[in-house]
Amino acid sequence: MMTTPMTSQPEAALQLMEAVLRDGRPMAAEYAQIFGPGATGHVETIEEDGELVSTCAWIRRDLLVGGLQLPVAFVGSVATQVSHRGRGHGTAVVERAIARAAEDGAALALLWADESEWYQSRGWVPMGTENVFVINSNNAFLLPDAVGVRPMEARDVPAVHGLYCTHESRVDRSEAETGALLTTPGLRALVREVEGEVTGYACVGRGEDLAHCVHEWGGTADDVLPVITSHWTATSEETDRLFVMVPESEANFTAYFTFIRSLGAKGILSMARIGDLGALARVFDQLTPEGVTVEIVGDRSLSLDGPSGQITLTDHEILLALCPPRGDKRVTEVAESEIGVDLPLLPIEPYAWGLDSI
Ligand SMILES: CC(C)(COP(=O)(O)OP(=O)(O)OC[C@H]1O[C@@H](n2cnc3c(N)ncnc32)[C@H](O)[C@@H]1OP(=O)(O)O)[C@@H](O)C(=O)NCCC(=O)NCCS
Repeated sequence: MMTTPMTSQPEAALQLMEAVLRDGRPMAAEYAQIFGPGATGHVETIEEDGELVSTCAWIRRDLLVGGLQLPVAFVGSVATQVSHRGRGHGTAVVERAIARAAEDGAALALLWADESEWYQSRGWVPMGTENVFVINSNNAFLLPDAVGVRPMEARDVPAVHGLYCTHESRVDRSEAETGALLTTPGLRALVREVEGEVTGYACVGRGEDLAHCVHEWGGTADDVLPVITSHWTATSEETDRLFVMVPESEANFTAYFTFIRSLGAKGILSMARIGDLGALARVFDQLTPEGVTVEIVGDRSLSLDGPSGQITLTDHEILLALCPPRGDKRVTEVAESEIGVDLPLLPIEPYAWGLDSI
């Protein structure tokens, strides 16, 4: 089998993604960051006998977690032509995306998978935390009235971006990027305005994904919950449940939804693979106290050297120490006892809001 890397075929790649992932329906407008004018994302492709047979998209992003900047890449839209499946192309195209992202400084590659099994058997592991709450007719009457809520307009983008930037855990994006993402087809965006000022916003839907799901919002609970009420009113005409995504860092919201007895589940944020080990070592350097030395060992491990010992973390152990699924601290605790020092900054709880997903 001959495979030839080709990176200059975004249109053919888009056609393949549309055929495989959308039954031929258009998807470029959903992913302006990959296919739009001035896009910063990339597509990788694999060709067999002159024909493009497999593709995926990726984009370099920085996750901001408190004061930390975590360089990552999001990978998505993996697709192989039906007639060419089972020959390793899908695996190869994703490996290429990870390698390119690592060259571009990404410490981790992240992806959102409907079916994670294929990725799990290729070294991807669950990472981070995302809470999901359910609004339905049993609890919706407890939500505040939708006072001051109206559809978002283009003039609201600076205020909405400002509210987005108040989140402790988020993807680093510019106001222009927020503005472009807010034009994604299928997005319903509402704001709350109080005395001429936009004080809250919330978004439902994104292309063909995240229907009936509040996936991005900003503002205090007093300003966001009325917007969610309004989304529920519209949603309840179509279906009986509205989902609300809440990161761990937004404890007020988690407490509120728990208080109104919304059904909740603590899920994972994404699937992850290690990218550039050097970038990852620099992240660990920032997250460990003085007196702890972080070193790269071989091409898959990091060693942490502390006052009373040393521990070597390999592959997914590194991820379990950095951002384990559902905040599980066990690997961090083992590291602390081995090296003899507290690691209060570990693990971290990064988050990507819905508009950033690819
Ligand atoms: C998933 C997909 C990209 C794999 O492409 P591919 O070129 O066949 O990938 P590979 O040849 O590297 O791997 C194929 C293997 O994965 C298995 N596989 C395919 N889909 C799977 C799934 N959903 N869960 C578990 N295993 C799966 C195949 O049975 C095959 O197993 P085998 O090697 O034992 O025969 C392709 O099936 C596809 O385009 N599916 C539809 C789109 C999709 O689901 N994309 C991923 C979400 S972003």
